[in-house]
Amino acid sequence: MAGKLVIGNWKMNTRAQSAQALAAELLADAATNHEGVGIAAPAVYLAALAQQLKGGKLALSAQDVSCYAKDGAYTGETSAEMLADIGCVYTLVGHSERRQYFSEDNAALLAKMRNAIAAGVTPVLCVGETLAQREADEYKTVIADQLAILAEIADGEYVIAYEPVWAIGTGKVASLEQIAEIHAFIKNWCLQNVGASDKIRVLYGGSVKAENAAAILATKNVDGALVGGASLDAGSFRVICQAAG
Ligand code: 13P
Repeated sequence: MAGKLVIGNWKMNTRAQSAQALAAELLADAATNHEGVGIAAPAVYLAALAQQLKGGKLALSAQDVSCYAKDGAYTGETSAEMLADIGCVYTLVGHSERRQYFSEDNAALLAKMRNAIAAGVTPVLCVGETLAQREADEYKTVIADQLAILAEIADGEYVIAYEPVWAIGTGKVASLEQIAEIHAFIKNWCLQNVGASDKIRVLYGGSVKAENAAAILATKNVDGALVGGASLDAGSFRVICQAAG
């Protein structure tokens, strides 16, 4: 497997100028201008950032991709081929905010995964349980249901991100034991259902910060991090990327 991967998910933040300023800071720093680092920027800024990142090592990621593959009458959508066309290396798929606010279900997410892979964009499938599901001790069933679409994908590279919903943007980070438990569960699920789990990177996301990144990234089966809030600050993000080695 390649080294650890850290992706900064900017979510619906920045403006043209602040996005380019942040990217310039990341490009100027060897800790962040690195093969193992990516930025998932708002769709409207991707093309300009792709130009800016040319010649750098930092990878560009989209935050979402259309479930429709072919060009056509899908107002507002961005296809995987369009993302590939401007140089996106990754796209997030099924982030919990999209599952929650845009009712994305497994059928749509499977189509998104397939479209990304077919276009040569590596999808990062996000999975994770809500607090209620954890408290009801349903979290492994929920995660297995979310992973199930991977068994429908014949081949192609993808990444998985475990993001417990209750740890996103709340400052509540999962304990190292909880992270280790679910990452082992995901790796084992992959081994049983899609084979070759050692090739699939499993990132952790949910309140990853400069202060806790080293311990999280040193946890068994954690192959990187998906970072929200802390990725908007170049200083914090560089510490997290450094912790990934
Ligand atoms: P925070 O790091 O802000 O908790 O967000 C995590 C996340 O959702 C990354 O995709």
